[in-house]
Amino acid sequence: AASIALPGFPPTTFPPPAFRCFRPGTPRAGSGSMDSTTMLPPGVAVIADFDGTLTRYWIAGRRGQTSHGLLQQGNAEYDAKRQALYEYYHPLEISPTIPIEEKTKLMEEWWEKSHGLLIEGGLTYDAIKKSVSEATIALRDGVVELFELLEELGVPVLVFSAGLADIIEEVFRQKLHRSFKNIKVVSNRMVFDEEGCLVSFKGKTIHVLNKNEHALDMATPIHDKFGYPNGYNPDSVLMKQRTNVLLLGDHVGDLGMSDGLSYENRIAVGFLNNNTEMSFKSYLDAFDIVYLNDATMRGVVELVSQLC
Ligand code: C5P
Repeated sequence: AASIALPGFPPTTFPPPAFRCFRPGTPRAGSGSMDSTTMLPPGVAVIADFDGTLTRYWIAGRRGQTSHGLLQQGNAEYDAKRQALYEYYHPLEISPTIPIEEKTKLMEEWWEKSHGLLIEGGLTYDAIKKSVSEATIALRDGVVELFELLEELGVPVLVFSAGLADIIEEVFRQKLHRSFKNIKVVSNRMVFDEEGCLVSFKGKTIHVLNKNEHALDMATPIHDKFGYPNGYNPDSVLMKQRTNVLLLGDHVGDLGMSDGLSYENRIAVGFLNNNTEMSFKSYLDAFDIVYLNDATMRGVVELVSQLC
């Protein structure tokens, strides 16, 4: 196992046990030192990224798949083309050295090409259901408890993803076996024709670096008579009325998820899944709490039960 020294922490070995690091001044649940002026009072909203945040990064020694990555179109040629795009663009996505403007252009390119391939390769809704049932994807331990606690507390949850809404909702259907009325998915949403074939994507593309106000307006899907999403409820302003935000992400770009909200207090929790040594400092600067080593969601459950 490799040895690593993180700034301010004793040297540890990989894979070390999951642990969390706090940015100085962050309220700590259960520490007894919480300052009431920095606590999130009632009126809280949770805004969470999906891939690598609500889902595990490693599953039985294999990389967990993303909502994009798990998709098998039933068309080997197109699956291979999308995989080739992933191999080219993913290292660019996680590189801490590419300037943000340049990276944004690259991410736009990646999303445009992969959405195009999904349409061109003839994706069906049935292929989505089958892909999810066969995927290497798992919610982090503690996510179900978190959802149940937030439902009980009446806290709205926005799952804000640069992935694919229809797949995330299918993952929730298959893994949670129940629905949560307080959870909304804002992500790239597909439009299917009456035969269940993908024909287009709805609205502005959301990629990892533009999770912003415009994307937030896409909340609350309306379904057509066949059960397919075909529009958005214009009064999906629930989140905007909340002034206290708990944000969960695995990418510094995820911090933009709360840009459309006029919050007064925000606690940002980051899951640092890869490039740990290179990215640790920037995560600690950006997030209030940083979890390493594919930690569970139980610390967040503890935090919510202390705060709400
Ligand atoms: O849920 P989240 O916003 O994290 O979803 C985006 C993730 O999907 C990215 O981290 C990216 O690596 C992955 N992705 C992918 N294939 C694509 C586009 C994005 O695996 N074509």
